Amino acid sequence: VQDAERLEHLEAEIFRSNCLGELILKNEIERGRCWVIEEASEVVAYLLAHVADGLIDIMRLGVLADHRRHGYAKALLQRALEEAPRAVLTVKKDNLAAMALYRRFGFEIVGRTDSQNWLMLRATASSS
Ligand SMILES: CC(C)(COP(=O)(O)OP(=O)(O)OC[C@H]1O[C@@H](n2cnc3c(N)ncnc32)[C@H](O)[C@@H]1OP(=O)(O)O)[C@@H](O)C(=O)NCCC(=O)NCCS
Repeated sequence: VQDAERLEHLEAEIFRSNCLGELILKNEIERGRCWVIEEASEVVAYLLAHVADGLIDIMRLGVLADHRRHGYAKALLQRALEEAPRAVLTVKKDNLAAMALYRRFGFEIVGRTDSQNWLMLRATASSS
């Protein structure tokens, strides 16, 4: 439902040099699911994921810097996990904030995708 243009500047602001371009974002949104949190009609947080066969693959989770620690990531993750309790994602090894969040949701490191990224899996339902 969300249009890629609205997410594009958030992507750029949050993920900087790692950000997805509009075409890729559009494709991801069309193929997957996207949840957002708005404040005063502006998107301030979003989660992008693919759901298939009872597994949710979390592609993106981002909150604008000025809106962090308000529980937005928690709320988005909670909503996404309603689709499927089993979930997978990758996270940069130095991203301690995100890892703390994911651990609270029951994600565990199961491996790495490359030298800089952990692969985390949430195998069972657990509390947040
Ligand atoms: C990681 C991120 C999504 C967290 O968003 P947020 O809305 O601030 O998170 P919440 O307010 O929902 O916090 C939920 C919990 O996560 C953990 N957490 C969040 N930020 C943290 C930080 N800076 N340090 C330690 N723990 C943190 C805490 O356990 C927190 O619970 P608490 O506030 O009750 O202590 C946000 O910092 C962000 O967008 N970072 C840049 C993009 C990114 O790294 N995305 C994840 C890529 S895998």
